[in-house]
Amino acid sequence: MRAMGSHRRTIWPAGDGAAVEVIDQRVLPHDWRTLALRSADDAVVAIRDMVVRGAPLIGVTAAYGIALQACADAGDAALRRAAQALIAARPTAVNLAWAVDRALRTLMPLAPADRAEAAWALAGAMADEDVAVNRAIGRHGLSLLQAVAARRGGRVDLLTHCNAGWLATVDWGTALAPVYAAQAEGIEVHVWVDETRPRNQGASLTAWELAQQGVAHTVIADNAGGHLMQHGRVDLVVVGTDRVGARGDVCNKIGTYLKALAARDNGIPFHVAMPLSTLDLSIGDALAEIPIEERAAREQTHVVGRAADGSLVEVQLVPDGSPAANPAFDVTPARLVSGLITEHGCVPAEEGALRALAARAAAGGAPR
Ligand code: MRU
Repeated sequence: MRAMGSHRRTIWPAGDGAAVEVIDQRVLPHDWRTLALRSADDAVVAIRDMVVRGAPLIGVTAAYGIALQACADAGDAALRRAAQALIAARPTAVNLAWAVDRALRTLMPLAPADRAEAAWALAGAMADEDVAVNRAIGRHGLSLLQAVAARRGGRVDLLTHCNAGWLATVDWGTALAPVYAAQAEGIEVHVWVDETRPRNQGASLTAWELAQQGVAHTVIADNAGGHLMQHGRVDLVVVGTDRVGARGDVCNKIGTYLKALAARDNGIPFHVAMPLSTLDLSIGDALAEIPIEERAAREQTHVVGRAADGSLVEVQLVPDGSPAANPAFDVTPARLVSGLITEHGCVPAEEGALRALAARAAAGGAPR
């Protein structure tokens, strides 16, 4: 997508062939920096510290992390150590383990001398696949927006939570891919952007990327969504996801569940954009089984923003000594989900449909 005046992806191999470059998402929207990751450890730190974030992007970053490890030491023990560290960097998004497992399955049968080249090629292919998958999600999600636009004289007001746009993927995004597809069709689309406390991925990242693409948007406090829905100002909600269990329960950024409840109470469709890499059929009881990342209390007690002199400053919000808790994700039960937008089409959030979809995809391959 467009950023800083040119088309770019969120992750790309460095020219010297010894690193991968990423956008430092910690300093957006106030500053623009790219970072070179030169080792698997660099990739672990970038994922853990949220230089890169968003389920699909951390998966692809981990695949590059394995490639960087294979360039340094492609022995079995070294690759397995790097794989464990990458998977442990963040626990909730299943894309991380999915990408690392796929890399190990490809590399382990090869002779160590052949692994670096193969790992690098695989990471590149996974990045390209992510782009194709998100483009397909955009195409399938577009029909939902077209239906609303037909009813509303060409206009759509969509609410989203967190950032499931191109910054969370290699390109296009998941939840925002239909928005970009609608924009290309000339639909007048406006996005209500939940600020998404405590890290404010909505206020900082979603607002920034929508502005870069010229999409109309309004940043709102997380608590404002229900009120807007009651007053008929939201046509549909579309969010991303970090892991979907076999029964269709959706784990996503903390606060997603409350939006789903408000949407149901107001008869507003609540859709989830889900690449198949985010489906975890090993999860039965999502509430009990999906590990929910607990992040540092400081993300809750403090906030970073731009001061009048342009510098980034951190300020404290709470009284000295007040304890804070910071669960980073929640689970929205399948009964509150109107549908899942996948690269193979829209499906209901139901176990039968999900198992059939996974089987069809395994047999058929590419997104349609
Ligand atoms: O903690 P983050 O910023 O990595 O959380 C991101 C989200 O919750 C996204 O909605 C999710 O990863 C889907 S991204 C296409």
